[in-house]
Amino acid sequence: MKLTVNGESFEVEDRHRETPLLWVLRDVLDLRGTKFGCGAGHCAACTVLIDGHNVKACQTPAETALDKHVVTVEGVTGPVVNAIRDAWHTNNVVQCGYCQPGQTLAATALLESESSPSKAEIRAWMNGNLCRCGTYPRIEKAIQEAASMLASGNRPEPLTAHAEPDWRPLTEEEKGDEVHPYIRFEPDGTIVVAASQLEMGQGIHTGLATIVAEELDADFESVRVVHGANGKFADGDLYGNPFFGGFQITGDSSSTGVYWQRYRLIAAKARARLVAAAAEEWQVPASEIGIELMASSRRMRPSTGCLAATIFCASTRRRRFSARPSSRLT
Ligand code: FES
Ligand code: FES
Repeated sequence: MKLTVNGESFEVEDRHRETPLLWVLRDVLDLRGTKFGCGAGHCAACTVLIDGHNVKACQTPAETALDKHVVTVEGVTGPVVNAIRDAWHTNNVVQCGYCQPGQTLAATALLESESSPSKAEIRAWMNGNLCRCGTYPRIEKAIQEAASMLASGNRPEPLTAHAEPDWRPLTEEEKGDEVHPYIRFEPDGTIVVAASQLEMGQGIHTGLATIVAEELDADFESVRVVHGANGKFADGDLYGNPFFGGFQITGDSSSTGVYWQRYRLIAAKARARLVAAAAEEWQVPASEIGIELMASSRRMRPSTGCLAATIFCASTRRRRFSARPSSRLT
């Protein structure tokens, strides 16, 4: 059978005619943005659009979509979803994010069919799209804002996510280092922090980025937290959670409590290395080296590639526009 998904035509084996569309999307077409929640029609995490209508993909046999257009979170485009995503972003709607592909697609179907829904209409339409994080008040507000945005003729640009930086496997030498397993400085000025804690809406990636930026006197915008995996060695796991016997487990309410001190110390050590490297390169005492955040770096960085902080020497007035390390840190 032929399915049209996100504007593309796919040949799917006939044996999947009665397979729930959810599994055809995820397991056959590898479109994993559509989420499996309950599998029983109770949560709407699996929401997709079929010919513009929001449906629960776990309750929809794939053959239902024959000769129709299926749109998933990966493929939805246009001014309505752009306004929705913009309002979602401005209102900080998302917590863990699991339900949000379904929420945003349901909201898209709503505003495509009713451009100015009342509060009661929003609640009635969105009823059934469950959010275990309880983001309902923010969802309601964001839908109202998206509707006003569209009514006023304001057309926000599509939001694009930052690509996640690569985190290559640790070398034996890096495993033995105090800083390298956790913090790396990329040539473009990005500060990459590796942690085993997954972001589940507890804010740990924001928290770790804040701690590291603060200790390094770096711009928060230049810090990216990635998942560090291969920290296992003979004596334990570098990224292990001490609260759970050293295994890599995210206990979301323990994340900040367990990890903040480790990352503050590591970032402080990284800062000390930067200062020592600058002192050596410039042949001045380390006491004369300082790091200051570039006030305008947030504005300048995307277009000019300017880096996050300035390392300076108080006596010689030399400056280096970078939190970029010398060879000692790379
Ligand atoms: S996964 Fe489809 S309704 Fe819950
Ligand atoms: S389940 Fe909705 S944001 Fe977590």
